[in-house]
Amino acid sequence: MKENYYAFRRRKIRRPHFEDFRHNLKYTLTSVGVLPLCSTISKSVISRHLRKMGFERFRLYAVDHHSAHAASAAFTSGFEHALVITLDGLGDGLSGSISILDKGKLERQLSIPARDSLGIIYEQTTNALGMRELEDEGKIMAMADYSFPFDFEENKLKGLVKVKGTSVITSCNPRRQYSLIKDVAWQAPREQVAYMVQQLLENAVVKLTSNAIDRFGIGNVAFAGGVFSNVKANMRLRSLEALKKWYVFPHMGDGGLAVGAALWANNAIEGLDNFEFNAYLGDAYNTDETKHTLRADRSLELHEEEREQQARHAAELLAEGNYVFWFQDRMEYGPRALGHRSILAPSSDEDAKEKLNLYVKRREWFQPFASSMLEEDMDHLVDYDGKGFDQYMTNAYAVKNTATSNMISVVNIDKTTRPQVVRNDRSPYSMLLKSVKKHTGYGVVLNTSFNLHGFPIVRDPEDALRTMRETRTKYMFINGITVKNRRAA
Ligand SMILES: [Fe+2]
Repeated sequence: MKENYYAFRRRKIRRPHFEDFRHNLKYTLTSVGVLPLCSTISKSVISRHLRKMGFERFRLYAVDHHSAHAASAAFTSGFEHALVITLDGLGDGLSGSISILDKGKLERQLSIPARDSLGIIYEQTTNALGMRELEDEGKIMAMADYSFPFDFEENKLKGLVKVKGTSVITSCNPRRQYSLIKDVAWQAPREQVAYMVQQLLENAVVKLTSNAIDRFGIGNVAFAGGVFSNVKANMRLRSLEALKKWYVFPHMGDGGLAVGAALWANNAIEGLDNFEFNAYLGDAYNTDETKHTLRADRSLELHEEEREQQARHAAELLAEGNYVFWFQDRMEYGPRALGHRSILAPSSDEDAKEKLNLYVKRREWFQPFASSMLEEDMDHLVDYDGKGFDQYMTNAYAVKNTATSNMISVVNIDKTTRPQVVRNDRSPYSMLLKSVKKHTGYGVVLNTSFNLHGFPIVRDPEDALRTMRETRTKYMFINGITVKNRRAA
């Protein structure tokens, strides 16, 4: 089922004949809610599997979807006292929740039913615009910037949802909603429809958060759930005066639920004192393993280099206008490449970006690239509000006018960028940015995920090697080995 679902979601199969039926069934079930039955069946299936695996005594915690989202944000935020807001399409009968975190205790204050889902409105609009639901929502957000702006009064989707106090209220069920969205999408150009749904989402999320801050009197807010992958909505949230400190869990979508559920259960059992989170939770491969894999290809030249030397070398190549593959240590967790499985290009060079797009990424023309920047250079490059250190690329910031020439390939049409902010330490990535700074004045690069168009991010040296061959890329820096491809394009 999982494989089939992946192929379906990524549209690697033909459009199934029963697609309209499936779509309607999904949204009908959404408005009815089948939660207690699912939970009972899941528990009994999992218990049976655990017994088969040889576990005799165990206690099974069924952590519901939004509790897991909330725990992921709350227990990794570093906040002692905070509001925790979750919003997504739906999960376990809900599309959102608001909780309070207080000294390690997380208590839900209210829930938003699946029927009143902001995430589903966005998902359905993605679908109505001919894009892949649950995959291409980020493209809709990017496309919205290409519409001419208009007032909310002229927004044809505005009647779909209202926020009153801390309630979200949709005007009709998801099936009816979809047919209304399709009508609008039939009449209006795509970028305008994208603008409408983006504006609708931003207004609703900002109003809900603002009302929640007022109601509970708490200005620090942690967020999780797929809605908060929307960096433009996050940017508007950060501009709320009443919001003092801000945090979004790096794996805000449903991929983050496993960690969220584990945190919830650990906290329930023994508390999470002194728990420290970082996003580098994936696999690592040592230099010998890496070399062994790479030697299989005779057209590659391999040189071992100290990490600091490697950082200087990569920075030189970037300064000359090349893009490079950058693979270091443990793989990052979550949807963004954070300098461990990244492709890097100079941030001040449009040609390098074009080359990267042509050979490797093949992104749609309206999708911007993200950046990584040193913490110490942040104030020079973007308007930073001091509301939370953004090391996971979860927010957009306005680029300073004085910095645009340094940011040509990472600035969006609306003059914002989505940066990963990197601390000044001894990590290879930090060393690289410091070396880049020596060439350009600022520690900033274009950072995009290390993958070939349409494929998942690379995990091991084998994947990296395959990607290098297929894209005929010239340079790769991988676990202390510098690779030059003699067959490069
Ligand atoms: Fe979710």
